[in-house]
Amino acid sequence: MDQIVGGLAATSEVPKGFVTLEVQSVHHYTERLFSFTTQRPAGFRFRSGEFAMIGLMVDCKPLVRAYSIASPNWEEHLEFYSIKVPDGPLTSRLQNIQIGDEILIRPKPVGTLVFDALLPGKRLFLLSTGTGIAPFSSVIRDPEVYEKFDQIHLLHTCREVAELQYGEELVQSVHAHEYLGELAVGKLHHHPSATRETYKNTGRIDDWIKDGRLARLCGGDLTPDTDRVMICGSMAMLDTLKGICEEHGFLEGSNSKPGQFVIEKAFAG
Ligand code: A2P
Repeated sequence: MDQIVGGLAATSEVPKGFVTLEVQSVHHYTERLFSFTTQRPAGFRFRSGEFAMIGLMVDCKPLVRAYSIASPNWEEHLEFYSIKVPDGPLTSRLQNIQIGDEILIRPKPVGTLVFDALLPGKRLFLLSTGTGIAPFSSVIRDPEVYEKFDQIHLLHTCREVAELQYGEELVQSVHAHEYLGELAVGKLHHHPSATRETYKNTGRIDDWIKDGRLARLCGGDLTPDTDRVMICGSMAMLDTLKGICEEHGFLEGSNSKPGQFVIEKAFAG
C-alpha cells in the first residue's frame, strides 16, 4: 500500500533489481543545485568515479537516472550531487526529498571515470563543469589517487560563482581531513572558474587550454606521455574537451582497454 513519506509518495513494493535507501541529509546550494546523502546498502561496493541508477517511485513505477556517486568509497553513507530541472521528470521531484524519505537505487555501479580505464601517469586532470564535479568528489577522496599521481588538478567551471561552492567546500574538506590532508598537500590543486560572473578565475576550460593558462598554472601543456585526463560535464563540453584531448594526441580509454583520457556525461533530467 502506498504511503506518503515527507511529502513524497513511497511504496512498500520495491521493484525488482532495486533497493530503497533512507535519505539522511539534504543541502540546497542554489536554486539549480543540491546534494543529499543516503544510507549505503549492505555489501554495496563501487570504484571511485562510478555511477548508479537512482530515483523515485512515480505512479507505481521506478523513475531513475544515472547519478555519479560523489561520496568516497570508504564512507558509510552515499552522497549525490544534483541539478534541479524545473520540468525534469525526476529532478523536479527529487529536489523535494527530505530526511527520512526513501529513494531507489539499483546497486550495480558502473562507469569509465575510473583508474582502471587509465594508463599510469604523473599528472591527473579532472575537467568538470556544473554537476560534472560529482564523480571527482569521490576520486579526490580516494587515497589511491595520491599514490598513483604526483599532481591532481581539479578544474571546475560553472556559470555563476555560487555554483562553485560545492567544489570549494569539497576541496577544503580534503585539505582539512586528518589523513587525506597529508596525502593531498602539494598534490591536489583546485582551479574553479566562473563564466558569467566576475570571479578570481573566469573562462571556459577549453579557453584555458588554448590560451596557455592551464600550462602556466600546472607546469606545462597537456602531453599524452605523462598526463591523464578525466572529463565530466554536458554533451557540448564533452565534445569540445574530447576534441582537444585528441588534438593533443591522447587516446580514449575504457575499462577493457585503458588509455590516456576518459569521458562521461553529467546526467540530469
Ligand atoms: P558558458 O557560461 O560560457 O556557457 P551549463 O550549465 O550550460 O552546462 O554550463 C556549465 C559551464 O560549462 C558554464 O561555465 C559553461 O560556459 C561551460 N560550458 C558550456 N559548454 C561548454 C563547452 N562546449 N566547452 C567548455 N565549457 C562549456
